Amino acid sequence: MRRLTVPLADRSYEVVVGRGVVAELATLLPSTAQRAAVVTQDGIPDEIELPGVEITTFIIGQGESAKTLDTIATLMSGFAAMGLTRHDVVIGVGGGMVTDIAGFAAASWHRGIPVVHVSTSLLGMVDAAIGGKTGVNLPEGKNLVGAYWQPSGVLCDLDFLDTLPPREMRCGLGEMAKYHFLTGDNLLAMDLEERVARCIEIKAEVVASDEREGGRRAILNYGHTFAHALEIATGHQLAHGEAVAIGLIYAAELGFELGRIDATRVQQHRDVVAGEYDLMTQPPPGLDADELLALMHRDKKALTGLTFVLDSPHGVEVVTSVDEAPVRAAMSRLLQ
Ligand code: GLY
Repeated sequence: MRRLTVPLADRSYEVVVGRGVVAELATLLPSTAQRAAVVTQDGIPDEIELPGVEITTFIIGQGESAKTLDTIATLMSGFAAMGLTRHDVVIGVGGGMVTDIAGFAAASWHRGIPVVHVSTSLLGMVDAAIGGKTGVNLPEGKNLVGAYWQPSGVLCDLDFLDTLPPREMRCGLGEMAKYHFLTGDNLLAMDLEERVARCIEIKAEVVASDEREGGRRAILNYGHTFAHALEIATGHQLAHGEAVAIGLIYAAELGFELGRIDATRVQQHRDVVAGEYDLMTQPPPGLDADELLALMHRDKKALTGLTFVLDSPHGVEVVTSVDEAPVRAAMSRLLQ
């Protein structure tokens, strides 16, 4: 078992990683908690036991269509009915969608009460449950409403991964692949527990340096500009992590096109994404380059022209005002 810290001064918290660590849940709860609102979904193993704490469980819907303000409103009514106070706690038990919703509900209830995440997916463990981004979708777009609300603690019990559906595992591997390029660490040499823990440490360090994404935190979106465009253009047939895997290859090709990295480095991206993780590196056929380009112009990061997170000999960084010509050239290589 490993106990890591997300260092955020008086809002610092522990992330416990390992097998069977769900048994550590009580150690992460505020000592004042008499009630716990457990937010989860059908199909997620119910392993929460907290002697002396009154637990009320809320089952939310599956899929992006349930990640809404209506779901938050239903939770709020439930919190009112159970008499949840600022001394109590919300516990999100599930993947990224559950912890995003549980976090936003906790951020909003009585203007903010403690939340602890029990992450049950690989994507949640290495990304969504860490760092305090919470929120829901609007019909107009994904994650448009939300808050930064750091959890009081996070549990990453690797036992949950044994029963994770293969597609969800692939999605987690897509997010994990990006960490191979954020630091000089040789993640390939690590076993799963060490690798998950190292990804969390990398994320914690980035979040601690730029909690509200004034700049550097955007490097955690490596591969995501093209990925978000792909998700929308395919009508979400590609799940987020699957799209990120392809987005990483696109980012490498664009980096090469702009003379920022060489062919060996592009190949390293392919070796990790296709080799180590056996993920798809090509988008499905029939996508329209003009539509993908228009979608990338609308990316939340694109405040100063087309904006990407790109690799370079001195690391991954945000690059603004990228010309359309190399963006199109990298796309045509990928779409070939
Ligand atoms: N998922 C990227 C971030 O937390 O900033």
